[in-house]
Amino acid sequence: MNIIPAENYNDLSQKAAKFIIEFVQSKPDAVLGLATGGTPEGTYKYMVEDFNHNKTSYQNVRTVNLDEYVGLPVENPNSYHAYMYNHLFKHIDVPEGGCHIPNGMAEDLDAECKRYDQLISSLGGVDLQLLGIGHNGHIGFNEPGTSFEKRTHTVELTRTTRRANARYFDSLDEVPTHALTMGIKAIMESRQILLIASGKDKAEAMRRLIKEENISEDFPASSLQAHSHVTIIADREALSLA
Ligand code: GLP
Repeated sequence: MNIIPAENYNDLSQKAAKFIIEFVQSKPDAVLGLATGGTPEGTYKYMVEDFNHNKTSYQNVRTVNLDEYVGLPVENPNSYHAYMYNHLFKHIDVPEGGCHIPNGMAEDLDAECKRYDQLISSLGGVDLQLLGIGHNGHIGFNEPGTSFEKRTHTVELTRTTRRANARYFDSLDEVPTHALTMGIKAIMESRQILLIASGKDKAEAMRRLIKEENISEDFPASSLQAHSHVTIIADREALSLA
């Protein structure tokens, strides 16, 4: 794993954006795997800023997002559809039809998971997957204990994850109990992975990811130790125990 330390959240966001922008410049038809959460917001902000100044084009880029809540319509501001549109898609020239996110409103969730897996393979797989990390080591919404053999699947969110994400909702009760997520198997098939982490509250997860050599389904991010092309960009606080 290649670890790029950053001073703080702003520096991390600039470095992560530069990494993605250079990737797209070298492969203008890249398939980007994208993530949500608080951490990538700054990265997307700097990608938009670069688009406005340097016109890095995303016209031939295709995107696939990691996950989506079950039961939140796309118009709901807390849906990951709304998040991606507001933070990135509406600001750059990526074609709307080229941006894919699991449909958490599908009537048949199993069929939706299969459709999403087929879609990823029809795009030729993910070239660069951006990841955040949850406090319990979840990536995407793959909670501890999830089999590493799964592709896109439905998950029940843990109370910790729902509580961590409750800051965006009016109350904990409003946080969906389930989500669709790309599985570890699909994430591991990405040709390159960029994981970003910021802040003291991620320090323990980063310590386990970087320092412990034990690959275990109890700590989903540990799967990345078996991937040959992972870059971590994390700030000083997130790396303080690593
Ligand atoms: C959510 C997302 C993850 C994200 C995690 C951490 O659970 N599904 O993809 O990595 O939160 O989010 P944050 O960056 O807000 O700490």
